[in-house]
Amino acid sequence: MLYSIRFAALVAAFAGPSAAGELSLVEELGKSLFFDANLSVNGDQSCASCHDPAFGFSSPAQSANALGAVVEGSVPGRFGNRKPPSSAYAAFSPVLHHVSDGDGVTLVGGAFLDGRATGKKLGSAVADQAQGPFLNPAEMALPHAACVVARVFSAPGHSAGFSSVWGQDAVFEIPAAITGACGDPDARIAVDDDVLRARIDEAFDRIAIAIARYESSSEVNPFSSRFDAWMDGQDTLSDQELRGFEVFEAEDKGNCAACHVLTPTGRETRAIFTDWTFDNIGVPRNRANPQGADYADPGLGAFLKTDPVYAAYADDAVGAQQVPTLRNLNKRSGPEAVKAFMHNGYFKTLEGVVHFYNTRDTLPRCADPLASEAEALAANCWPAPQFEATMNRDELGNLKLTDQEEADLVAFLKTLDDA
Ligand code: HEC
Ligand code: HEC
Repeated sequence: MLYSIRFAALVAAFAGPSAAGELSLVEELGKSLFFDANLSVNGDQSCASCHDPAFGFSSPAQSANALGAVVEGSVPGRFGNRKPPSSAYAAFSPVLHHVSDGDGVTLVGGAFLDGRATGKKLGSAVADQAQGPFLNPAEMALPHAACVVARVFSAPGHSAGFSSVWGQDAVFEIPAAITGACGDPDARIAVDDDVLRARIDEAFDRIAIAIARYESSSEVNPFSSRFDAWMDGQDTLSDQELRGFEVFEAEDKGNCAACHVLTPTGRETRAIFTDWTFDNIGVPRNRANPQGADYADPGLGAFLKTDPVYAAYADDAVGAQQVPTLRNLNKRSGPEAVKAFMHNGYFKTLEGVVHFYNTRDTLPRCADPLASEAEALAANCWPAPQFEATMNRDELGNLKLTDQEEADLVAFLKTLDDA
């Protein structure tokens, strides 16, 4: 029975967007959960703290964006290892799967930059993903799912939402003996009663499903950029933006669309600008990463090592990260606000990103392997990649674009922000 409820919820989740500007009950519940800082151990961090709509659902933290781009968790001094990517448009990623190609496999889908929220548990990658941050010691840091559920049920708005979506019985008491330690991120909490544990698990799944429904809604994925209006014949792009689009698309120019594809690939009806595959494009180390100046992020390779089915392919995938959406790249609260790009936020400018794709393999290596983007641009060099052996050398790195073509491409990328 539990399964059939979950199944019904998920079928509804992806049946199609609701009318623009209107959220269904479950999407509304997911939205209020997404913005509730009380669901972190110290009551100071919500999902939106790291995924702010004003920044294209990525991080608004200016001091972090300017440096290591990793956001401090609810517990002071605790950090993860990656920049918060956009959580918008992520709901279109399929459940992690593979496609065979000659002697290897191509991994497709999942959420997180290494695909480890596979979607195999709840049938949706972002639903699986949504259970991570609440319990991640470097993020919202609650010590047990029972704590998340108890905090959700103790907020009248959330519990009313829960009852209206899943019925009155969906909300229940969790004994204080269990929740008493929820304010301690390092508490060891066990729920011995099997029936109660199953109810908590079910409620925690529903919390994730509600968030995934919100993340799948047309409010989060409005497809309202100038690019979309142009595709619909309702707006025009400037001559420069149109030239940039051609650079983006042409195989013998930018070749960006080889990975940031212009065609829908699954349940989406418009371009998300990703094919949900993974690649190591050779991003340098970010010396301001809280894990250490020399930290290198093994990405998909590290996750595949933990999976018996895919472990054999792990070595080839070291350093690969999921191709991200390019929507809302330039979305920020104001022209002075800093954004960070790539998994480790090494790049602070789209100009730098495009110059890197164009010249990664033609400019000399910087003497300092930890040179920042600004230093590399000033010295006309690029630092060594984090993982040289697995780096993609076929589709990028020496594009032979002119300065004008680089500028045109940047202008095009800026048309992808939602209104
Ligand atoms: C402290 C900052 C922080 C908080 C709080 C946070 N996230 Fe994230 N989020 C991140 C980071 C960092 C990543 C990338 C992590 C990785 O790939 O290992 C991420 C990844 C994601 C992704 C995957 C995007 C993709 O392209 O695969 C989604 C979706 C997401 N978060 C949603 C949420 C939701 C929902 C919550 C609240 C339950 C939340 N986040 C809370 C930092 C945060
Ligand atoms: C071989 C596949 C591939 C090609 C070709 C490609 N990209 Fe990417 N792109 C990626 C991957 C993978 C990432 C994430 C890499 C990382 O974080 O280490 C990425 C990241 C980005 C980002 C950062 C997005 C963010 O939110 O941080 C931008 C911008 C970008 N690409 C633009 C482009 C442009 C412009 C082109 C064409 C000049 C291009 N890409 C060509 C695979 C590709």
